[in-house]
Amino acid sequence: MKMIFVTSNRGKVREAERYFSPMGVKIIQMKVEYPEIQADSLEEVAEFGIRWLKDRLDAPFFLDDSGLFIEALKGFPGVYSAYVYRTLGNDGILKLLEGVENRRAHFKSVVAYYDGELHIFTGKTEGRIIHDKRGRGGFGFDPIFQPEGFTKTFAEMTTEEKNRISHRGKAFRAFSEWLKENLI
Ligand code: IMP
Repeated sequence: MKMIFVTSNRGKVREAERYFSPMGVKIIQMKVEYPEIQADSLEEVAEFGIRWLKDRLDAPFFLDDSGLFIEALKGFPGVYSAYVYRTLGNDGILKLLEGVENRRAHFKSVVAYYDGELHIFTGKTEGRIIHDKRGRGGFGFDPIFQPEGFTKTFAEMTTEEKNRISHRGKAFRAFSEWLKENLI
């Protein structure tokens, strides 16, 4: 079967392909820019995206909205992660955390699937922001995020390794379990 993934992020597509292709699901990327509203939660941002897209695209399709939540910054950048990545980038985050001892952070991913109805799947991964960027794989904040219990950053992992423990991998797992029960 085929699944349309609405995103302009090639890194997210690579992770989805790696995750879903072994179960015979082909991921088709559709680059449609949808408005990302200012809201308090990733779920609200994702739901708004779906409501905007459902009048413009043929269902079914899914999207992913993710964020990095840094404890010492009270959850910032969180829902503003895309803007903060574009403006401050990884170096800016490292600078904000200079001299800060508490490096705890988590990533959260909200996968929203629309098939005439909305289905939400989430995943969260705890970890810490390291002091210097490490690794060349992945995308976004991957070089500065080291998941709990691991010595590598996400950017030092293969896509399979990252999928096994990442926020998005967990959301994909919940999504694929739902698909197996309902569709595949
Ligand atoms: P959005 O979900 O496309 O709004 O992404 C929010 C921001 O977080 C973007 O700048 C992404 O690059 C970043 N981001 C999302 N998921 C990940 C991830 O798995 N690793 C690192 N950065 C991520």
